[in-house]
Amino acid sequence: MEAKQCLSSERKNKMKIALASDHAGFAYKEKVKEFLTSNNISFEDFGTSSLESCDYPDFSHTASVAIQKGICERGIFICGTGIGMSIVANKHKGIRAAVCESVLSVQYTRQHNDANVLCFGARITEWNIAEQMLKTFIETEFEGGRHAKRVEKIHLLTKM
Ligand code: RB5
Repeated sequence: MEAKQCLSSERKNKMKIALASDHAGFAYKEKVKEFLTSNNISFEDFGTSSLESCDYPDFSHTASVAIQKGICERGIFICGTGIGMSIVANKHKGIRAAVCESVLSVQYTRQHNDANVLCFGARITEWNIAEQMLKTFIETEFEGGRHAKRVEKIHLLTKM
């Protein structure tokens, strides 16, 4: 299946991305910042800010709230596996966080789930794959239609 990559550069320029990581994802978060900067995509970094050991729920929560408040449209959250970050993010109403390890998963989660947070693991995913996943996450649009009703049903189940 061809990825539907149709974001105009005007739309990309308006999109602001919330970034979050723990110590395990910190180095990748710095690389994500370089990637976004070189593609003229704005971001806000919600930490962590060093390799010092810390707790992923703190950063995933702060960045998730920024998306809930509309400060950022989407998020990219990184920890060792991406899993802890996603568990926390998905406690928040309106957040649809997907842990992905392949470009195809990213493509489908944008098209079918309208995932607004991409989570991945710095201990799992090679950087060259991560970079392709980032590109697909940013460029792929939600298909809507029959998927919109399903996404609505997710939010009927979320309280926070
Ligand atoms: C930290 O060692 C690790 O547990 C964390 O980065 C993450 O993988 C949790 O899901």
